[in-house]
Amino acid sequence: MPISFLDLTRQNSEIEAETSVALGRVYTSGQYILGPEVVAFEEAWSRFCQVDGAVGVASGTDALSLALVASGTVRKGAGDEVIVPTLTAPYTALAVLNAGGVPVFADVDPATYTIDCKSIEISITSRTRAIVPVHLYGQMADMPAVCALADQHGLTVIEDAAQAHGARLNNRSPGAFGLAAAYSFYPTKNLGGFGDGGAVVSTDKALIERIKVLRQGGHAEALKGQLEGRNSRLDELQAALLGVKLKYLNDWNQRRRKLAALYDEMLAPVAKLRRPDVRQSDSHVFHLYVVAHPNREALQAHLATRGIETMIHYPYLLHQQSLFRQTGQQPLPVAENLADSILSLPLYPHLGEGEVSEVARAIVEFEPA
Ligand SMILES: Cc1ncc(COP(=O)(O)O)c(C=O)c1O
Repeated sequence: MPISFLDLTRQNSEIEAETSVALGRVYTSGQYILGPEVVAFEEAWSRFCQVDGAVGVASGTDALSLALVASGTVRKGAGDEVIVPTLTAPYTALAVLNAGGVPVFADVDPATYTIDCKSIEISITSRTRAIVPVHLYGQMADMPAVCALADQHGLTVIEDAAQAHGARLNNRSPGAFGLAAAYSFYPTKNLGGFGDGGAVVSTDKALIERIKVLRQGGHAEALKGQLEGRNSRLDELQAALLGVKLKYLNDWNQRRRKLAALYDEMLAPVAKLRRPDVRQSDSHVFHLYVVAHPNREALQAHLATRGIETMIHYPYLLHQQSLFRQTGQQPLPVAENLADSILSLPLYPHLGEGEVSEVARAIVEFEPA
C-alpha cells in the first residue's frame, strides 16, 4: 500500500460526529463572521496557550504581520529590520514585508535547526527592531537565549508558532516568552481548519485588543482615517471546527511523539542519517519529522519506488530568494548545508506504527549507488 505524506481524511473519521454537530450549529446560526464560535475559540485557545488573550485572524501570515504592526515594532516604509531564520516557510519573511519591514536572515543552529543566536547577534544593526524565532518543525527555538539577546539590544520578540501548537519549553507555551506568538491553522498544521486561519496570542491584552480593531478594517478609527486596518478575520465555521479539534490536540501530539520515537529507534543504525536534537521532551510536537542524508535525492527516489511520499521543508533558503536577497548578504553555511540534505518523512497522528516501520525499513535497506 502506498504511504502518503499526510491523509487528513483519517483524522476526519475520528471526529466526524462532533464536527458535524459543530458545523451544523454554525449553519443554522445565520452568523458566519465574528460571532460566538470565534469568541469561544479565542478563549479556549488563550487558556490552552496559558496566555492572557488570543485573537483569530485569516491566516498565520496575517497573524505575524499584524503582531508586528500592532505592537508598533514595524513602521511602514521606515526601513525597520526584523531578523528571521533563513530555514523556514517563505511566509515568515513575507509577513515582515507585508507589515512594511525588511527581513534580515540568520543562520540556524546545527543541532536543532532553529535560529542561531550567534548569527542573530552579528545581524543586528541600528535599524533592527525585532527578532522572529520560528519554532521549526514543531520544536521551540531557544527562547531564553533569544529573549536575553533581545533584552540586551532593546528588540521585540514575536514568535512564529505556525508549526508548534501545544509545544512547551520550561512549561511555557509560545507567546509566553516573546511579546506575542503567531499561529497558523492551515489544514496540515497540528491544529488545522478546513481552510485558512490564524491567531495571535499574547500576555499583552492591549495588543490583542488593537489587533481585534485592525483585523476588522480598523473599525471606527478607519472612518476617522487614522488607522490602516485590513480584512483578516477567522470565520465561524473554522472556529467551530478548531474548537472540536482542540480537545484532541494533546493526544494527537502525543501520538506524533510516539511515532517519532519509533522512527528514532529504527533509524538509529543508519550512520549517514542525521536528525535534529530534541531540546526537552515536550519542546517538540513533531509537526514534521525531518532527517538529513548526504544522498537525499537518491533516498527520496528510492522511497518513491516503494510508494512512500516524502517532501522537503525547505529546498529554497530565504536569503537566496530574489524577493528577499539583500546586497552584502553573508553566507549562512549551516542552513546552506542542510538545504541539500533534509527530507521530511510521513508523520501524522493517524499514521499507523506499521506504516512508520515500513518507511524506516525502506530507509535502512537504502544503498546509494
Ligand atoms: C513557519 C511558518 N510560518 C508561517 C506560516 C504561514 O501560515 P499561513 O499559511 O496560515 O499563512 C506557515 C505556514 O505555512 C509556516 O509553516
